[in-house]
Amino acid sequence: MIKDIYSDPRLYDAANTWKTNDIEFIANAADEFGGPVLELGAGTGRLALPILKQGHAYTGIESSPAFVKYAKNKLAQFGENATMLEGDMRSFELDQKFQFIFIGFNSIFHLMNERDVLSFFQSVKKHLTNDGTFLIDTFIPDPLFLYRDKQRYYVMEFDMPGRDHCIVSEINEYDNETQINHIQWYFNYEGKDEPELFSFDMHMIFPDTMDRLLTDAGLVIRGKYSDYEKTPLSSESQLQIYVCGK
Ligand SMILES: C[S@@+](CC[C@H](N)C(=O)[O-])C[C@H]1O[C@@H](n2cnc3c(N)ncnc32)[C@H](O)[C@@H]1O
Repeated sequence: MIKDIYSDPRLYDAANTWKTNDIEFIANAADEFGGPVLELGAGTGRLALPILKQGHAYTGIESSPAFVKYAKNKLAQFGENATMLEGDMRSFELDQKFQFIFIGFNSIFHLMNERDVLSFFQSVKKHLTNDGTFLIDTFIPDPLFLYRDKQRYYVMEFDMPGRDHCIVSEINEYDNETQINHIQWYFNYEGKDEPELFSFDMHMIFPDTMDRLLTDAGLVIRGKYSDYEKTPLSSESQLQIYVCGK
């Protein structure tokens, strides 16, 4: 059986304990740009926590019902300051504007075509205050990764609470026409012969396309960075971090 990678929030949190290098950056951005804060593709509340701990009002939109339920419990300690909504970031309608809107940890690549990216940007613009800031944090697609041989490659390993150590490997297949990378993850738990299989797709957006779609949506690019130290974007960059306004 092939499972959805975003169906089990406990597994997501256990598998992503390694991802900590964006936490301070996002928390500092919330301090710099101010609240209220809106996150799209909010997941299990990984990035909501540091924002709420700094005292900002936070709203997250997330499409996985299991993730929303789990995140609501995790964030309940923050009372009315924390709102987690089940919804689709491609088009959303909230009765509120936000000073800081962001999409982190490659979530923008879950918008599967340019039409969806544009409609997402238009929804963001509608919900941004006049002096508000919109931030995107995602990787820059690497042709060496996209076009590599179709075989299994090591991704990561982690300990799943209540279960054994797990080693994750992947096979990917990139469709040049749609610019969608089809990925299968194999979760090999110690002592188990058969791996658990997950699949997901990511729509590769290169910086030139990001520039064009942001501009088409009427958003103004204020800065482009290649890391959390705000090094300017270059041909060597692995991340594309966009800071935009209206
Ligand atoms: C890589 S995870 C990032 C989660 C969280 N932002 C973090 O940093 O840990 C991407 C998230 O986007 C969500 N997602 C994918 N498509 C979505 C959509 N159309 N609308 C809202 N959320 C979506 C997934 O369910 C998943 O939780």
